[in-house]
Amino acid sequence: MSYSDGLETVIAAHTVLSDVDGQAGRLTLRGWSLDQLVGRTTFESVVRLLFDGFFEDLPKDLTARIGQARLQVYREVSAIDEALVALPVVEGVRALMARLVDGDDLTTALTLVAAPAVFTTALIRLQAGESPILPDPALSHAADSLRMLHGRPAGPGEAEALDAYLVTVCDHGLNASTFAARVVASTRAGLTSAVLAGLSALKGPLHGGAPGPVIEMLDAIGKPERARPWIEAALERGDRLMGFGHRIYRVRDPRADALKGAIRRLAAQAPQRPGRLEFAESVEIAALEILKAHRPDRPLDVNVEFYTALLLEALQFPPGAFTGVFAMGRVAGWLAHAREQQAGGRLIRPQSRYVGPEPLRAA
Ligand code: SDX
Repeated sequence: MSYSDGLETVIAAHTVLSDVDGQAGRLTLRGWSLDQLVGRTTFESVVRLLFDGFFEDLPKDLTARIGQARLQVYREVSAIDEALVALPVVEGVRALMARLVDGDDLTTALTLVAAPAVFTTALIRLQAGESPILPDPALSHAADSLRMLHGRPAGPGEAEALDAYLVTVCDHGLNASTFAARVVASTRAGLTSAVLAGLSALKGPLHGGAPGPVIEMLDAIGKPERARPWIEAALERGDRLMGFGHRIYRVRDPRADALKGAIRRLAAQAPQRPGRLEFAESVEIAALEILKAHRPDRPLDVNVEFYTALLLEALQFPPGAFTGVFAMGRVAGWLAHAREQQAGGRLIRPQSRYVGPEPLRAA
């Protein structure tokens, strides 16, 4: 047995769900490469792709079932009180999801797919002093999520952009939050418990908590000519640049360009903040050059969160809610991995090496 810091060299599961090729910079979901899915299929179709084989009587199209699940889970919105509204959005989402009953069936799973969208949008509106919006089960998950956020139908290209985001982030191998979900599923605790574990892990700034701080970084830099000095000072302080680096990718995260493409398609249909994407690209170029000089031994490239921040900003989600939006997509991966772990996995219980004080000898 050997110790592996951060389990970096450990293969802790065999999975049919996704493969993250860190050398080639390629993401594969059940045999489909990311570029065959993003902008070409819907989030609902990818949920079905991930769930295929893990649930009995899976309908061909999940759109209506997920729509009904949004309506069902909306009843929990009445439980939102001032205390929940005062929390960071992802913590409010977590508290509300904790009220959902545990189970291992498809209805429980689709309720859990629907819940982050209903709760995130309701909490954003309540934090802004507005009332939550009743879901419309006839719409796609992306279109209804934007409608619940803005209180109006999604604008041209907006639903497609959010759908592209949800597809891009729905599953990504054994990342920290998915591993947490598998650990809990391995004890047979149930899908709600597994999703709550994933959501709690996702919240961390080293993981799904990174996109919000990307906006803070861009706003702190402010102008292209200030990118280099700002980045150099940050690295001098020992700060991590949010949106850069990855445990697996040693080249560019393929999702970054998938999301950049979604931003460009959105901008072609609905004019965005002039120059925002170009400014972000200038910051990215500066960051990559400086990181290369700072750490010549360690390839540090852009990851999914950098352009996630731009896309969610363009869709007018507040940065404080970006992690809740990440959960709207990743919940599908947590559920599929939880079911895969239940289907064939053992209880996850690694060893530890005791390095504490020797036991005291009885006097
Ligand atoms: C996600 O696993 C997944 O698949 C996650 C994810 C998913 O879809 O689920 O892809 C989503 O979480 C993307 C990552 C989002 N997080 C960030 O953008 C936060 C900033 N990035 C880092 O903190 C870091 O790159 C990690 C946490 C993502 C990965 O870190 P590792 O693999 O543990 O690498 P490390 O911390 O050992 O870093 C190695 C060296 C370190 O130098 P030393 O401390 O050894 O001197 O590289 C440096 C780090 O300081 N480094 C960075 C850096 N990332 C690593 N230095 C500056 N800025 C960074 N972003």
